Amino acid sequence: MAIAKAARKARFEAVFDLIRDELVQHCGNEGLPAEAVEWYRTNLEHNVQGGKLNRGISVVDTVEILKGRALTEEEYVNAAILGWSVELLQAYFLVADDLMDGSITRRGQPCWYRAPNPTIRTAEGTYPPVGLIAVNDAPMLKSAIFQLLKTHFRHESYYADLLELFHDMCYKTEMGQLTDMVTAPAEIIDLGRFSLERYRTIVRFKTAYYSFHLPVALAMYMCHIPETYTIRLSHSPKGETTTIHPYEQALSILVPLGEYFQIQDDFLDFSAPPEVLGKIGTDIVDNKCSWCINTALKLCTPEQRRVLDRNYGRKGDIEAGAEGGEQDVKAEGREHAAGGMCEARVKEVFEAVGLRKVYAEYEQRVYTRLNELIDAIPEEGAIVDKKGQVITEHGGLK
Ligand code: FPP
Ligand code: MG
Repeated sequence: MAIAKAARKARFEAVFDLIRDELVQHCGNEGLPAEAVEWYRTNLEHNVQGGKLNRGISVVDTVEILKGRALTEEEYVNAAILGWSVELLQAYFLVADDLMDGSITRRGQPCWYRAPNPTIRTAEGTYPPVGLIAVNDAPMLKSAIFQLLKTHFRHESYYADLLELFHDMCYKTEMGQLTDMVTAPAEIIDLGRFSLERYRTIVRFKTAYYSFHLPVALAMYMCHIPETYTIRLSHSPKGETTTIHPYEQALSILVPLGEYFQIQDDFLDFSAPPEVLGKIGTDIVDNKCSWCINTALKLCTPEQRRVLDRNYGRKGDIEAGAEGGEQDVKAEGREHAAGGMCEARVKEVFEAVGLRKVYAEYEQRVYTRLNELIDAIPEEGAIVDKKGQVITEHGGLK
């Protein structure tokens, strides 16, 4: 199983080389100087590679599931180009987000705006960081998506759908980023801005649309699934029909699924030991508007609220509530090595309000709810035209 997963990832990764070479060559063909072309190559290699690739690979997986068979080489490469387009979008968001957040590292290496770029060498033999050139590099990653779509999908009937989908997903994610930025602005710690309702809006817009809906919708377009069609319900003795809106239906499940993913991610950041999480959780010291703090705010006593107000988003060892000589610890950007006592105090409140139990109950509820949404999808049935004439015997989404 693990080997099959590794092999799938390796096959997908191999397509990146084609994409990178094609994009770099296009820049060269446009007549850009060699150092600009090399800069672009480094931008692509540094920012698009190195992630888990779940979003990209799920495009290929979904195409395979929808077609119900192994893909031809041509189909595979096309699906992988759409998958890498999602990864390019993610890279674009992260380069911009790291600038906005003033972050230090990403995927185990310096954030792009802090990375030394080997294409510019000073007289002293040093390599200055990318710096604000990253403001241009980020949208170049986004523009690469549209360049790839033009080259590989312009002749497809669903080309306009792909363009519209990417534009929509960008806008949605930007709305989410805006909401996040005004809820937890850098250097301002104010838990009064947080709420579970606000949290849900941020998660849906900033994460769920582009991470969960986008890969599946791309695969659906590639498989020529129409926006709407009518099926005759297979279990209906009277031959009743129902109209299917497959993209809306997928969205109605994938966005809540994305929300569940993020809530689980937030809970693990607080609760999982580093050896299980694969990193040290930093949401508390980073003043993140996470599910844990929002749930704790809803459940806490006034005394616990004071502890949260004094310690959340801060690192250090100043004890909350201590009399005399106490001072607030300032937020020091969002990159912290260790939370110290402040983080420990917040975690005590999280435990005291019963966050683990609340999460377990939520997980049970959301699991049931997602299954209900999936079960509500009409069973497979023949696709019929407006007059009820059968177009194909096998339709439906299940
Ligand atoms: C990461 O959030 C942020 C995103 C996934 C979306 C960012 C969206 C944009 C930057 C919109 C595009 C804007 C411009 C200006 C090009 P996070 O900070 O919560 O996660 P992290 O801990 O991984 O940094
Ligand atoms: Mg960030």
